[in-house]
Amino acid sequence: MIRLYDLRLLFCLLMLGGVFLSCTRHAPRFRIGVSQCSDDEWRHQMNNEILREALFYDGVEVDIRTSKDDNARQAEDIHRFIEEGVDLLIVAPNEAAPITPAVEEVYDKGIPIIVVDRKILSDKYTAYVGADNYEIDKAVGNYVANVLQGKGTVVEITGLAGSTPAMEHHQGFMNVLSGYPDIRLLAKEDGAWLRSRAAEKMDTLLHRFPQIDMVYAQNDRMAAGAYEAAARKHREQKMRFVGTDALPGEGYGVEQVLAGELDATFIYPIGGDRVMQIAMDILNKRNFPRETLLSTSVVDSGNALIMKMQNAHISTLDGKIETLNGKINQYLARYATQQVVLLGSLLVFGAGCRITGCRLPLPAHQEQAEP
Ligand code: FRU
Repeated sequence: MIRLYDLRLLFCLLMLGGVFLSCTRHAPRFRIGVSQCSDDEWRHQMNNEILREALFYDGVEVDIRTSKDDNARQAEDIHRFIEEGVDLLIVAPNEAAPITPAVEEVYDKGIPIIVVDRKILSDKYTAYVGADNYEIDKAVGNYVANVLQGKGTVVEITGLAGSTPAMEHHQGFMNVLSGYPDIRLLAKEDGAWLRSRAAEKMDTLLHRFPQIDMVYAQNDRMAAGAYEAAARKHREQKMRFVGTDALPGEGYGVEQVLAGELDATFIYPIGGDRVMQIAMDILNKRNFPRETLLSTSVVDSGNALIMKMQNAHISTLDGKIETLNGKINQYLARYATQQVVLLGSLLVFGAGCRITGCRLPLPAHQEQAEP
């Protein structure tokens, strides 16, 4: 026979079980690995976009690793993801040639792999999402030719030579400039996508060339380094600077334009949300585009302020989405606990009634009618 003491114990166990169950997270349905080549503001924004988009899907876990511009480290990261058994991999290859074998290995193992932003030297990947660098730089070329009115000297500071955007940017840029015989490309230097490297390269360029009309840097970070080097020699006012990326935020591209350091910058689309949507389409066996090319637009003194204001508004909304998601998770956890407690109470109540033979109280007149 069950005693009251046993019932209390049972009740407590059910309560504890409920709390435990509600706190335990369900095993993810899909595990997605992200291997980033670099650790900078542009990559952070992409990671945030991926993570924010992942909030819209149930049971998805995203693990992001960065190799900090190191090819060997990135290949290791990719191998570790394979060993851990991820369901899908997203890779932004640092340099094309050294990372191609690791990406091919993932593909050959049947793990879906999305290559983002930078490319590899093979078509062994499931999907690609990234900027149309060639088109971006045709726009840059036209802008430069227009500002120089078809005549002048230019230096180009490129990204890491072995990374595909550096090659594509240059080809697009030259495609346009080659149509202007009076615009001369004095030199092209590898700034490795880094501010400090670009500053060093600009120092030598300033030394070599007494007259430079235009500096084109393939990202805004390198444009800032080049500007800084020119300012140290008091030559920054004698030339114009153009960059790419147009990131919002303190000190980044849009503000560099507002500060008058950059003449213009071109949006280097990030597309982290798009990458995540394609990842989910692949995992859920839906149709997806194999190649997604994202387009650009110029940011100059005419629209930089409005860009800044709109970006600030978007970032407030992003923050609200994250807060809302936190609240939904809290409510869901509370709801799960309540369900278990309710179930436990009903069980205990039912068991109690069976033991004590209790019945619901009847209305007074019915009670009297009982024999
Ligand atoms: C970020 C970055 C950007 C650049 C892109 C090229 O890591 O360096 O500044 O536009 O990569 O892949």
